[in-house]
Amino acid sequence: MKIKVFAPTNLAFIKYWGKKDAKLRIPANSNLSVCLDRLGTITEIEFDKKFSEDSVEIDGKISEGRERDRVVKHLDRIRNLAKVELKAKVVSKNNFPKSAGLSSSASGFAALSLSGSKAIGLNLPEKDLSRLARIGSGSACRSISSGWVEWVKGDDDKNSYAYSIFDEKYWDLRVLVVILSLKRKRVETTDGHKVARTSLFFKTRLENVEKRLEKMKRSIEKKNFSELGELMELEALSMHAVMLTSKPNLVYWLPETVRVIQAVQDWRKERLESYFTINTGQNVFVVCKPKDEDELMEKLEKIKGVIEVKKDRIGKGARII
Ligand code: PMV
Repeated sequence: MKIKVFAPTNLAFIKYWGKKDAKLRIPANSNLSVCLDRLGTITEIEFDKKFSEDSVEIDGKISEGRERDRVVKHLDRIRNLAKVELKAKVVSKNNFPKSAGLSSSASGFAALSLSGSKAIGLNLPEKDLSRLARIGSGSACRSISSGWVEWVKGDDDKNSYAYSIFDEKYWDLRVLVVILSLKRKRVETTDGHKVARTSLFFKTRLENVEKRLEKMKRSIEKKNFSELGELMELEALSMHAVMLTSKPNLVYWLPETVRVIQAVQDWRKERLESYFTINTGQNVFVVCKPKDEDELMEKLEKIKGVIEVKKDRIGKGARII
């Protein structure tokens, strides 16, 4: 069967940085994200005896090397689960630049997990789909369920998965994706996770991050935007403090990244309220209320070095289209 799926990227407000188990991708800490509505990956897959080997096309190019190996390994996991040996043809398209800190591996592996498992005849419950996506790329497990999603770290393959704590309609916040450079990030996220523990700050971060997660969940329950935003910024900076002080150190920011951070903070003093977060890369996500979206978009577009601002909102998880 041929199956086509859309999976969104997700934006972490409490980050996953560093693993307890690298192979199973068990995170060092529980974390929390929202699914985006527009940014994502469309993947079409077919298993058939007419294929003599797996073929993988991403964004119009035949995949090779490490990228292809990662996809084929995931196909092997799906084949193992279904006890089927057929080869597959995978065609995947991101509607945004990949490897630029916009979480293409999250949407990509969520899309591959849902489309692959369906096409091979499996009907996995949401929890098992999340676990499968997690082994492909940790944060992908948060792109299966809709809206506000918590990834409970767990300590083995069975109990480390993500689930929706509130659906996409619960609280209408907007996300402005500020693109500053389309260059691939200098160090791939998988390699970054490996060095997280070499930072002197990693232990301190771990001692605090789950308390921050609990506080954040309370701010979401109360729909307290200022509290949520402050925790979100502190969290992004705490993760980047670990990155900046690991060995080798990971400096993902550009001068433009700092310019956007400072602009957001200055506008807040003038009562235009928004908050930033950043992943592995130079690009910045700005979170705001619907009423401020247009004004912020206009202001962000005027900042020197901003290539494009994409509007997004909180959306549903992976689905067949
Ligand atoms: O799932 P990975 O290995 O691409 O890691 C995601 C890491 C961050 O985007 C920096 C944080 C997160 O929780 O999404």
